[in-house]
Amino acid sequence: MSSELIAIQTALRDRIPVPDEEFDAQFPKMQRYRSSVHWTPIEVALRVAELLEPSPGGRILDVGSGVGKACIVGALTTAATWFGVERSPPMVRAAQMTARRFGVEHRTRFVVGEAFLVDWSPFGGIYLYNPFAEALFDGVIDAGERRETYLDEVHAVERKLAEAKIGTHVVTYHGFGGDMPESFERVVQEKVREDEVCLWLKRE
Ligand SMILES: C[S@@+](CC[C@H](N)C(=O)[O-])C[C@H]1O[C@@H](n2cnc3c(N)ncnc32)[C@H](O)[C@@H]1O
Repeated sequence: MSSELIAIQTALRDRIPVPDEEFDAQFPKMQRYRSSVHWTPIEVALRVAELLEPSPGGRILDVGSGVGKACIVGALTTAATWFGVERSPPMVRAAQMTARRFGVEHRTRFVVGEAFLVDWSPFGGIYLYNPFAEALFDGVIDAGERRETYLDEVHAVERKLAEAKIGTHVVTYHGFGGDMPESFERVVQEKVREDEVCLWLKRE
């Protein structure tokens, strides 16, 4: 392990933020350029991890986990196990490789797949960083069709959350595009970086 990586690992274990550029340099080059828009900033990831740590069962799912940044920070800073489902195979490979580099492969698991084909019920904690918005900007498909796909995905999340067990913790950053079911109460709403981080608890 390089001295740079050990320094990042040590700081994060003490919940001290490190610059995003330093953390992102640990990912394969091909993935880094997406970081500023697509991956959770470190300052946000630390807060997300803290809010999700008390989730029942200690298993947390990042829906659309990208290169695993939020899960890796979560695994470095909490005792929970972090699962990521991501539709892009190269991103999942990058997540697995980077988790190994940080020595958290035993408390992270990344799978390639569609978020809605995964059973969410084993997870007491769910993280949503606006996972489906990029579908709106895919230039190949017609704009109307893109919007329809996006809304289908957002409504599928609403249905999954409506079925969640009592006590489930959900953290959103930039929301997820839909409305939280009424059975969830928002207990934290705070500005971190350029948007809000919210914690929702399933009450009934
Ligand atoms: C905004 S990024 C967030 C990445 C990661 N959660 C983070 O915080 O660093 C959203 C990710 O969701 C993925 N995604 C979008 N729709 C998906 C779906 N239906 N199933 C699985 N992954 C999906 C995208 O490929 C992208 O990597």
